[in-house]
Parts: sequence; C-alpha cells; structure tokens
Amino acid sequence: MAQPVVSLQHLQKRFGHFQALKDVTLTVNAGEVFGFIGPNGAGKSTTIRTLLGILKKSGGEATIFGKDVWQDAVWIHKRLAYVPGDVYLWPNLSGGEVIDFLLKLNGQRHSAATDALIQDFALDVTKKCRTYSKGNRQKVALIAAFSTAADLYIFDEPTSGLDPLMEAVFQKHVRALKTAGKSVLLSSHILSEVERMCDRIGIIRAGEVIETGSLADMRHLSRTQIKVTTSQDPSAIQQLAAVHGFTQTGSQISFAVDSEQLNTVLTALTPLGIQQLQSTPPTLEDLFLRYYHQQEAQS
Ligand SMILES: Nc1ncnc2c1ncn2[C@@H]1O[C@H](COP(=O)(O)OP(=O)(O)O)[C@@H](O)[C@H]1O
Ligand SMILES: [Mg+2]
Repeated sequence: MAQPVVSLQHLQKRFGHFQALKDVTLTVNAGEVFGFIGPNGAGKSTTIRTLLGILKKSGGEATIFGKDVWQDAVWIHKRLAYVPGDVYLWPNLSGGEVIDFLLKLNGQRHSAATDALIQDFALDVTKKCRTYSKGNRQKVALIAAFSTAADLYIFDEPTSGLDPLMEAVFQKHVRALKTAGKSVLLSSHILSEVERMCDRIGIIRAGEVIETGSLADMRHLSRTQIKVTTSQDPSAIQQLAAVHGFTQTGSQISFAVDSEQLNTVLTALTPLGIQQLQSTPPTLEDLFLRYYHQQEAQS
C-alpha cells in the first residue's frame, strides 16, 4: 500500500487546560478527496492548523508526505495549497494584486488557468480587498489555490461564504483536481455540501474522530425521511423492517427508512400509485444520533 499523503495518529492539542483535540486519527490517500466533517467547535480548524505547522501538537503523530508537519513544514509547504476558513487580505491591494502575490509566495505564476478561474468565480479583480464580502475574499484565496500546482490541497470550510452557484463552481474545480490525481482535504460542518465530492469522510466531534469511511460504509448509520401520498391505502408499508417511525394521515404517510434499504421500500410503494413523494437526506445530526444510539446498543 502506498504511503498516505496525510497521516494523523491520535493527534492531541491542548490550549492551556482546554483539550481541543483528544484523539484525531485519519489518513488521506493519494488521489483522494477526503471530507472532514463536524459541527462548529469540533476541532476541524485546529486539526488543519496543526497539519500546516501553524500550531504545535500536544501529542500523537502528524505527517504529510511521510514527513513531520512541524519539523519539515517548509519542505511540505512547497507541495501544498491551503485556503483558510477566515480569509484575511491586504485591504489596500486589489483582488487581482493579491491573487498574483499569493501565487508568487508559492513560487507560481499567473497563468491562463488563473484567468479562467477568475472568470469561473466571476470575481471583479479590480476592486480593493477592503470592499470585498467574505465570499469574495474566499474567492481570491480559492483562485490562487486552484491555480497553484500542488500535490495536496487543504480547504477549511471553503464554501461557507459562497452562494449555491459558486459552490457548484468550487465543486467542479475540486473534481478537476481529483481527475488530475491530486489529494484534497476539505472540511465542512454540512454533510450534504461535501458528500458528493468526497471519496471518504471522517467525522469529528468534540475533538475526536468518531468514524471514518466512505459514505456508503456509513449508510448503516443513516436514515432518509420520506413523505409520500399514494392512490391506494399505504398502511401495509409499516410492516417493512426498514421502515421506522411510521405515521399515516389518510393517504399520506411519513417514515424514516434505512438509507441502504431505500430501493426495497420504493419498490413496495410503486404499485400503490405514488402521487407525491418528498425525500429528505440524512443530516450530520442524524448521523450523530444514529451513531450514539448504536454505541449505546453495543455497550
Ligand atoms: N487559539 C485557541 N485558544 C483556545 N481555544 C481555542 C483556540 N483555537 C480554537 N480553540 C477552541 O478549540 C475548539 C475547536 O475549535 P476549532 O478547531 O476552530 O473548531 P471548528 O473548526 O471545528 O469549528 C473550540 O472549542 C475553540 O473554541
Ligand atoms: Mg473552523
């Protein structure tokens, strides 16, 4: 097995008496898009800052490309592009000047790809950074990162200030990195925002990574909420083993279904004549709830 690009083993970080990271264990493999998911305050940015050698770990192991993130930070940074969650820019420079400056810092040049990115993200690069919204500042940092030739790209909540259209542009460029065989570590507190891009995800809660794997592996932890109206009496659906929390009002029923059993349930619904169907995918909170219920059931 090839060496992982990022390897964190039982990483710990204390701020004084406060233990922000208790046990962060995860690996990002070459050519993989890894989603780092957890609610606000869980420790995503602290983990990423430790990875970047900005913070010094209190315990555990942290390597990138097989090198220690603290000792070998300079070497590592030559192969890495990073976009922080809060992007601070030089207020008196224009967006275009900052993009070129950030590229220069990384030993890169403004290229045709940079122009294409500016177009894609629809950024007015002539404006001073002080006039930019959070989303526009994020765009500046994203454009510089995407036009940097690196092996690993780290994005900390990159789409939190972007509208859905720009989120789609961001996703397109992440997919292009993946096609080019690059590795990506992407944090978010919203599961649905990143799940389509990621090969695997790691879930962090209160400084601990509680689960890692592909989303398909985690389907056993997730349930989809279904609301459906049928032309025939749907009451028989409640007999199915995959159906939970069944309620019925006339011809409308609501229930949660184990996501891996969706097909079975839809197959049973179809002959009843589906008139309306609404499905709500599992949220991060649902995953947590299911995770903790399962832990309790095992203990
Ligand atoms: N420099 C710091 N000093 C003290 N506490 C910090 C510092 N940075 C982060 N924390 C705390 O560590 C926890 C994790 O924060 P953070 O990594 O920013 O979470 P996330 O990025 O997942 O929202 C939070 O409780 C936060 O208040
Ligand atoms: Mg954060």
